[in-house]
Order: sequence, then C-alpha cells, then structure tokens
Amino acid sequence: MSTNVSRTMGQQAGRRSWAEPWKIKMVEPLRVVSRDQRTAALRGAGWNTFLLRSDDVYIDLLTDSGTNAMSDRQWAGLMLGDEAYAGGRNFYHLEETIQRRYGYRHVVPTHQGRGAEHLLSKSAIRPGQIVPGNMYFTTTRAHQELAGGTFTDVVIPEAHDAALHHPFKGNVDLAELAALIEREGAERIAYVSLAATVNMAGGQPVSMANVRALRELCRPHGIRIFLDATRLVENAFFIQEREEGYGDRSIADIVREFCGYTDGAWMSSKKDSLVNIGGWVAVDDEGLFEELRNLVVLYEGLHTYGGLAGRDMEAIAIGIEESLQDDYVRARIGQVRYLGALLTDWEIPIVQPVGGHAIFLDARAFYAHLPQDRFPAQTLAAELYLDSGIRAMERGIVSAGRDPVTGDHHRPNLELTRLTIPRRVYTQAHMDVVAESVKSVFDERTRAHGLRMVYEPRYLRFFQARFEPITG
Ligand code: F0G
Repeated sequence: MSTNVSRTMGQQAGRRSWAEPWKIKMVEPLRVVSRDQRTAALRGAGWNTFLLRSDDVYIDLLTDSGTNAMSDRQWAGLMLGDEAYAGGRNFYHLEETIQRRYGYRHVVPTHQGRGAEHLLSKSAIRPGQIVPGNMYFTTTRAHQELAGGTFTDVVIPEAHDAALHHPFKGNVDLAELAALIEREGAERIAYVSLAATVNMAGGQPVSMANVRALRELCRPHGIRIFLDATRLVENAFFIQEREEGYGDRSIADIVREFCGYTDGAWMSSKKDSLVNIGGWVAVDDEGLFEELRNLVVLYEGLHTYGGLAGRDMEAIAIGIEESLQDDYVRARIGQVRYLGALLTDWEIPIVQPVGGHAIFLDARAFYAHLPQDRFPAQTLAAELYLDSGIRAMERGIVSAGRDPVTGDHHRPNLELTRLTIPRRVYTQAHMDVVAESVKSVFDERTRAHGLRMVYEPRYLRFFQARFEPITG
C-alpha cells in the first residue's frame, strides 16, 4: 500500500507516492465564515447540516454525490449535447459505454440513482416480498418499502463493528442468506440487493469471491441479484489491492467481471462517474427491460433521456471512461486514506479500515458519554461546522429512520459522522485543515451534551429534520 501516509514518510528513500493524474485548470474561491456567522447559520438550519446554505460552508464534505469536478473533456462534451426529445445521439453513446464497461444488455437512463431505484423496485418487487441486502441504504430501502417489500440485512456481522478490521466488510453473509431462503422459500425473495461498496458501513467493499459464491447460492433457486453499482469502481480498487489473483488486473476488467455475476444494476452516476447529475438502470432480461422502459416514461422522461439533458448523458459517458483509469482510482482513494491516516495517528475513532469515498467518524466512541437518543453523530456534524465551517453528514440513528411497522427508531450499531470527499475537488492541504478541525472538536468532546429532535419529516427524515441543543 503506497498512500502518502504522512509528509515525513513521503520522503523515505525509494518510496513512490501517488499523485493526482491531472492538474487544475479552473478554480472556485472558497469562503471562510466567522464563528458568529456559523453559529447563526447553524441555528437557522435547525442543527442539521443538510439545511445549511452552501454559501455558509467552507469545506463541503456533506457528500461525494454530484459534487465532483468534471474534466476538460467532459465540459467539451456538454457542447455536443443533442437535445432532441427522442433518439438523441448522446443516449446511444451512453448506452454503448454502459454495455461495454458494465456489460449489461439493456439500459434505461434516469435523472439520478433514486429514480433508478424507484423503477427497479416497482418492477421487480411484489408486495409482501423480502429484499435481502448487504446493509440498507436510505433511498434504496425507502423505494423497496414503497413497492411493498421488506428489506432484510444480510451483511456479515463484522460490518456493524466500526473498529474491526476486515478486508471485505461489505460481504454478504452467505450462511445467513441461505437460512433466509430456506426459512421463507425462494418465491418470497424478490431479489438480492447487493451494494458495492457499502455506503452505510463506511464505503466497505465486497470481494469477487463473495459475489461469485452469491451467484452460486442464488442460481439454483432462480433468485436474481441486482447490484447498486454507484461506487463499484472504488470497490474494484480494493479487489485489485486485496484479493489474490487480481493484483495485475485493471480496474475496468474487475468492474466488468463483477457485473457478470449479477442480473442487472442501478447507478447513481453522481458518484463514480464524475458528473453532477444522472443515473441509470441496466438489465439483461428482456421482459424486465420492457417494464422499466415503460415505467420510465411515466416517472422520469422518454426512454432515451430519462430526465437528463443530452449534454448530461454525454458527460456521463465520458466520465465512465475516466473513472476506470487505474491511476485515477488510486489517487482518489489515496486522498481519502491520507485523511484517515492523519486521524488514526491522532487516535481519533473512525471506521476501520478506511473505505472508498469518505472517512466515517465513530461518533459512538467519540462521544462515549452521549446516549444514542441524543444523536451523537448529528451533534458531531454540528460541532465540526461550528469549529471550522466544515460540513459533514450524520449517518446514524437519524439516517436509519423508523421501522414502518412498529414506528420505533431503527437503532443502528453504527453511529457515524461522514466526512465525504468529492472527487477531484479538494487538495491534500484541505485534508490537513479538516483533520485539524476534527482534532480540535475531539479535544473538546466532553463539553457536548447532544441534541433533541424538534421536527421529524415522514420520509428520509435526516434530510429535513430539525434539532435543538440540550444544555448543561
Ligand atoms: N445508492 C447509493 C449507495 C448511494 O450512496 C446513493 C446516494 C444512492 C443509491 C441514491 O442515488 O442520490 O443519485 O439518488 N447517496 C448520496 C450520499 C445521497 O450522499 O451518499 P441518488
């Protein structure tokens, strides 16, 4: 592993560090806001970082979704947008690129990932069916539930332990899935919902051996596997690095093999594909494709644009190719690990090992004195913003929402605050500033008393919930 772990290590003899395989052509000024302004902004936002205006944010690590910097090629591609309502040429470019790189036969574009989740959930789930998956994701599970399905977590137990090291924490627990199939019968299983990487576990990967074995387990039962390919490129990097037999294979090759064990995929292009908007769903089965292609015209737009402008599809097609370059992926994950190494050196609790797209602070350990009912991860995101104007995101009990049947809070073991790194946007110096702010909040941790929720929306509450600080 040759990450730039620290500046001194980078100077060791014979060492070869990664560097970004690009240089910067255009810059966007950042705004530093004063502590008084931050205090007022946070109060106005109900202590929810989603409700802050980005003008009040200094370094924005809310998400890696749609926050990527596009390349000169992608910007040039925008000028090639064919904005015909039907049959625009950029769709065919995108379709051909997905077929060649991900390997699925049929492609339906959507405005972003959740549009694809909606169409697939509606098409592939019958009410009353179960959807096993390797840990929930917020929008994915919401659409599966809206379609009448019940999500069941079958990720390996290691995934729920923040501090535990495991090379493929995103793996499916095959024994647990086999027991579920045995207990419920294959008929009751809509499909396996496989995410690579697993966002909520900390951007943790799935191994090729696991997806291959999953295929073997599902095949005799006729159970389909649909893949959330949102961060599959990053997943492929971990396979290349950690799995025997893949060290010499290219990222592109690994992505293609991985998809080959699945029946279809949905995608938020806003992550891996280095664009600001877009998504798709792609499948091999003709009948399912017909259904998806019919539904897309109801909810998104015609099947050759799916809610996107022609220029957006062109940028995605180019972005897919750029995302599959080995040196790009290495630098991308190298930057995330650089931040992780700084925090680990300072003994700040984070999810280990560091995953693909973010550093996840372990708020449960960080604020060991705060019960989960006081929203430690939400508190930590608020404190970070107050300290430096850095915006992070809660990934704990607020994100987990409520059980639709009992109405109780889901109480995830992982109570995390995510520092998400946009692609090709910030520099290593920004990572230093972030690490120092986390350190300063860590040093003051005993002063935090937590939050109470004062407004709770019905769906995906973390986006719009409001809080008040608990004092004393
Ligand atoms: N699947 C995964 C694994 C995601 O991380 C996301 C979005 C989606 C699906 C939905 O895609 O946003 O394009 O509709 N994740 C963002 C995040 C919001 O910040 O993690 P979308």
